[in-house]
Amino acid sequence: MPSKSILIPEGILKGQNLHALWLRERLSGDDFVDKNNLQRLYEPSLLDDNLTINEYKINNNFLEISFSDGSNGKININELYEEINSIDVIPNKKIWSVSDKLQIFDNNQIQENKKYLIKMLKSFYEYGYVIIENTKPEQNEVINFAEKLGPVRTTNWGKLFNVVSKPNPNDLAYTALELKSHSDNPYRKPVPGIQLLHCIANESVGGDSSLVDGYSVTEFLKKNHKKLYKILTETNVNFKFTDVDVILENKSKLIELDDNGLFKQINFSSRLDYVPNLRFEDLEIFYQARKCMYELCNSDQFKIKFRLSAGMIAMFDNLRTLHGRTKFDPNTGFRHLQGCYIDHDATEGKLRRLLK
Ligand SMILES: [Fe+2]
Repeated sequence: MPSKSILIPEGILKGQNLHALWLRERLSGDDFVDKNNLQRLYEPSLLDDNLTINEYKINNNFLEISFSDGSNGKININELYEEINSIDVIPNKKIWSVSDKLQIFDNNQIQENKKYLIKMLKSFYEYGYVIIENTKPEQNEVINFAEKLGPVRTTNWGKLFNVVSKPNPNDLAYTALELKSHSDNPYRKPVPGIQLLHCIANESVGGDSSLVDGYSVTEFLKKNHKKLYKILTETNVNFKFTDVDVILENKSKLIELDDNGLFKQINFSSRLDYVPNLRFEDLEIFYQARKCMYELCNSDQFKIKFRLSAGMIAMFDNLRTLHGRTKFDPNTGFRHLQGCYIDHDATEGKLRRLLK
């Protein structure tokens, strides 16, 4: 009997009630989608509102189905299962500890071996960072490496930025000062997703690097400092960057959560955040919370320390992983890093394509 939905009686989709239009939109025969790009060849909003399912059966892991508008086809049950359960090839984040092995990868193998590149990208998503060795310690090499993964995001700093100590800098990064753990550019819309920092020379005394898993820190806060975690996930602060040509501003929480209340993003750059004039009591808690986060993000409990030497790249998820460096003495040797940003859709898209 024609019906506007079906209740799957068995198998991995057992108990799922599937709407006729929802299933009709998943027909993938030549009449329905362009084989080259899998985009629909029809406007789904113009399908019959009262579309019904005439017949269906499950056969060899396919749902064979026909509809009241005369369309019919086979739909892969496994693909429906993965879609319904949001199963993705992008690995879930791991909580890692400072005693875990550094995620170091060899550039020569990344360039030559597809399986090795997949391994590197999976680690990047699990740990929120990878360190690449054996790139050329030359200018622009960071762009060459980044563009193997996806398009580089140009900002008002250009396609790349040079991290060197210079007079009258427009950012503290371009001094020899210590940089505490921070995320880059929370004042941008959107915030840069992935940062690559390439070391061309690191001959100064000092200038060691550090990374912190913001995800691990926020999970720790959530468990041990509920009141502080709450205010950090609910208070929009204004991040502001002022330069000669531009004033960039973006409001966001220090810890952004997704629709399910799970970790989404960290924004931590306490030299340029401006909390609104909240009630006195709330500001008391906010300042306590930010201080607690600062202390955790700069503690030996969460910070991994290493030294970038010429030819190494630190690639990290700027929405998750904080970075910093110790101060250095420019009189003792030359230190030059080049950095750039790419977006998560590039690395996610690359990983999906490599796995399918
Ligand atoms: Fe930075």
